[in-house]
Amino acid sequence: MKRLTVPKIMQRKVDGVTAEPLVMLTAYTARQAQLLDPHCDMLLVGDSLGQVIYGLPSTLAVTLDMMIAHGAAVVRGSYHSVVVVDMPFGSYEGSPQQAFASASRILAETGAAAVKLEGGEAMAETIAFLAARGIPVMAHIGLTPQAVNALGGYMARGRSDAEEAKIIADGKAVADAGAFAVVIEGVVEDIAIAVTNAIAIPTVGIGASAQCDGQVLVTEDMLGMFERVPRFVKKYNDIAAVISATAETYAAEVRSRSFPSADHTYQPK
Ligand code: KIV
Ligand code: NA
Repeated sequence: MKRLTVPKIMQRKVDGVTAEPLVMLTAYTARQAQLLDPHCDMLLVGDSLGQVIYGLPSTLAVTLDMMIAHGAAVVRGSYHSVVVVDMPFGSYEGSPQQAFASASRILAETGAAAVKLEGGEAMAETIAFLAARGIPVMAHIGLTPQAVNALGGYMARGRSDAEEAKIIADGKAVADAGAFAVVIEGVVEDIAIAVTNAIAIPTVGIGASAQCDGQVLVTEDMLGMFERVPRFVKKYNDIAAVISATAETYAAEVRSRSFPSADHTYQPK
């Protein structure tokens, strides 16, 4: 299987219609990427790794070096999906030039095909600057976690007329600027549908709508690694329980000296 490309992702939406929704999951490590890759169209190296991997309180302290280290691991572990790497907070908002310096490092040092950044109209100039210089950009609008301090929390967006108009304008702005796709996170469903219908590029929903052109979830949330997850997450499994039970069994066997047994020790010939 040859690796998908950004143009192939864009071509899945024809005249505003996506027959087969795009499948995206987050991945942060090589082994995780290997397991997810055959089932996905895109793998997102999300800055959610701040909370999920590093135990940080938000994504704000995630660095470019962290994103590059995990991005390279995910590229090494995948051969089919388009790998998209999040631009971390502080690495792109200052100017289009700053964004280019960060994004070019990400693509050069990881081998990923695209970057993602948060923001709508305010980031349009930056998206156009990167796109014109050969860097595919996925935008991210609605609930943008890097703006948690300005938004005051992680509540769903678009519950007022002003917010609704802003999110739709953001979607149009990033599409006009040349983004190849846009994540719509945590918005009232009608707005996700309105944006999806209003723009030619694929929308990827998370807490948005099944009518989006694709869906993304944080893999650990989907697997059931955490007790508490946002309303929009479906827990497809209970991996936390599997890990806890396995560790409990191992600990008991070590303490009773039943592990390692003859099967797991070397004996003289
Ligand atoms: O960082 C992340 O995992 C994301 C997705 C939730 C869209 O940005
Ligand atoms: Na992110």
